[in-house]
Amino acid sequence: MDLQATRLPLQEFGAANFARGSVATACVLELAADLPADPMKDFRQMKQRGEKITALTAYDYPTARLLDESGIDIILVGDSLGMVVLGCQDTTGVTLEEMLHHTRAVARGVKQALLVADLPIHTYDTPEQAVEAARKFVDVGAQAVKLEGGVSHVTQIQAITKAGIPFMAHIGMLPQSVREEGGYRIKGRTQSEAEALLADARAVEEAGAFSVVLEIVVADIAKQITSAIGIPTIGIGSGKHCDGQILVTHDLIGLFPWFTPKFVSPEARVADEIRRAASAFIERTRAVG
Ligand code: KIV
Repeated sequence: MDLQATRLPLQEFGAANFARGSVATACVLELAADLPADPMKDFRQMKQRGEKITALTAYDYPTARLLDESGIDIILVGDSLGMVVLGCQDTTGVTLEEMLHHTRAVARGVKQALLVADLPIHTYDTPEQAVEAARKFVDVGAQAVKLEGGVSHVTQIQAITKAGIPFMAHIGMLPQSVREEGGYRIKGRTQSEAEALLADARAVEEAGAFSVVLEIVVADIAKQITSAIGIPTIGIGSGKHCDGQILVTHDLIGLFPWFTPKFVSPEARVADEIRRAASAFIERTRAVG
């Protein structure tokens, strides 16, 4: 069996196969020896040990494979896909079909990282819808799913985790709500916002999330949330005290030069390299006559 091709959450893989008798069990044990025991437990242990968790987005096979080979802990097929790959203004137009298509490609390139996929807007308006969408992502190779919301989405999160699908939460600035919010604004500036964020973090932990993304949260509030909960916080624009950090890969490598969030320090200028290579090719081709 090609484990990487199926990429069932490990608990489900184990449960399904142990039910099939001793020969299958022996095979599973042999295969399981090559795999991390339980990645979700590892992340909690990493938090306890003070080891930072690293996460980046990918939307295609080569990027996923390169990130995976670099040793990243988590690869997220984010619905930022809409902005940095599909050229949309925000993430609100991203469809389930688009996300599944890209998740399937990413899954082919991931061997060691945990593969998480975003549930796009309006695919989790009810708990039933959330589970149905989450299962579709598992079927194309995701090992966990993420959706945006805290207290407001506890029933959806509980339904997903009860279905045995590992879940990553996302609170703070919620890009799928950018139109209602009127922009990408930092969260946690007021006492009531800070209290609401802490309540969100506690609610998602209680509902079974294995980690929580804190997007553009005041650094000191992110620090307080990080010490108040047992699951790791993964920050984006939320300061250095989170248990891990996540970035949109296009921002990190300078592949979307028309806009870079203020909190990102790019490590490369890939857009410049593409322009340089394309110009060289154009010149070389035209020079021949
Ligand atoms: O869609 C995305 O890429 C995300 C990360 C930025 C956290 O949700």
